[in-house]
Amino acid sequence: MSKVGIFGAGWVGVVTAAGFAELGHELVVRDILPEKIAALSEGRLPFHEPGLAELIEKNRERLTFTTDAAEAAADADFLYVCVGTPSTYAGDADLSAVWSVLDDLPELSARPVLVVKSTVPVGTGEKIRAALDARGLDQVGYASNPEFLAEGTAVRDFMSPDRIVIGAFEQSDGDRVEELHEKLDVPVVRADVASAEMIKLAANAALMTRISFINEIANVSELVGADVQEVARGIGLDHRLGPHFLRAGIGYGGSCFPKDASALKQLASNSGYHFQLLSAVIEVNELQKRRVIAKLQKHLGKLRGKRVALLGLAFKPNTDDMREAPSIVLASRLLAEGAEVRGWDPVAQPGSLMKGVEICATVAEVVKDADAAVIVTEWEELRGLATPEIRQSMRNPLIIDGRNLLDPDEVRRAGFGYEGIGRPTSPLAGLPETAEPERELA
Ligand code: UDX
Repeated sequence: MSKVGIFGAGWVGVVTAAGFAELGHELVVRDILPEKIAALSEGRLPFHEPGLAELIEKNRERLTFTTDAAEAAADADFLYVCVGTPSTYAGDADLSAVWSVLDDLPELSARPVLVVKSTVPVGTGEKIRAALDARGLDQVGYASNPEFLAEGTAVRDFMSPDRIVIGAFEQSDGDRVEELHEKLDVPVVRADVASAEMIKLAANAALMTRISFINEIANVSELVGADVQEVARGIGLDHRLGPHFLRAGIGYGGSCFPKDASALKQLASNSGYHFQLLSAVIEVNELQKRRVIAKLQKHLGKLRGKRVALLGLAFKPNTDDMREAPSIVLASRLLAEGAEVRGWDPVAQPGSLMKGVEICATVAEVVKDADAAVIVTEWEELRGLATPEIRQSMRNPLIIDGRNLLDPDEVRRAGFGYEGIGRPTSPLAGLPETAEPERELA
């Protein structure tokens, strides 16, 4: 069993720590924020992730949380860097937290392997290696071991990953990282450090490309009368393509995709290459978040004074993460149009991100007297939305389903107007007799 120091008690660091503890290793997790460490020490998670609290509790005797870098590094066989790498103003990855970890390392007499799990631009490993050598830490090994954890399923993703990617300058450092994972019976991809760094960025870019692709197919389907759900099923059964990441909707968000797309685009530009496809993927996603506004206008005319309920605020279900959530763009666009915006989410607490939006505690409350309800996040709780009670409590029973969560026929039979993404729709569905949309549309 190995001793592992984890630097960064964010979502990746805590999941990684709990996962390694479950594999039998001994973990010391270090973060600079005392309140985070205090919460984790008391068994409280600073964020929502299904199954994680239970995994921590189960492996409590192998997990220590501290603010002291020296305690995390002492006798460690591995030093895992799991800090955040957000976007800078220019769109590059901000590596300041990674460099701080290096600055905070104490004198090390042993021979640990420093492993970077944070998503970093290609070339970062080379720079860290040089910095370690410059500090006289040439006995410390180096490896890149990117994470592929998705929020909401992170525990499962750690325990049964599709693959483990390990990039190292020295074969022996890579071997040690591979041994650390030996209880996991999964394919291991061994690569040079630059390629391991690129695998992470390229995997995310490929997933985002699929999402923007299916969103554009959805947009064209709306114009020509096809149903993107059927199209996606028909595409996905081709074994060369597969069914995943073909769900059309209101665009991707989250802590990884937007920043990693921007970081890869900037990495390419900084190296003299214009990554046209990725630029288009990003632009399609930006426009996709705004398409709901046009759908609302189509049914309601001008949005000034109209009450719009946003159902689901987190960037995806089963997380409370609001980072780059499409709901933020949607809310601010609606407010700018003069709409009265209400929001509901079972776990996310948007706080100041949703200034001007009235946050409601229940679905019944958020849709009351609304002119439209928009499904922004496909929470399971929303599957049964189209009830007679909800219809009666809305001023205008219109559902814009930004995630194609509901069955359009059922919803229409229940007396609602319905519009999804990339699905056939009846013109001006759910229009109340008093509205005058034709005039507004002119
Ligand atoms: C992602 C990657 O999946 C993970 O490997 C990486 O380490 C971090 O980024 P995450 O952001 O947690 O994980 O969520 P994911 O489930 O991948 O969804 C990302 C976004 O894409 C969400 O906003 C989701 O709603 C959207 N999405 C996903 C779609 O719009 N359509 C799809 O078909 C799939």
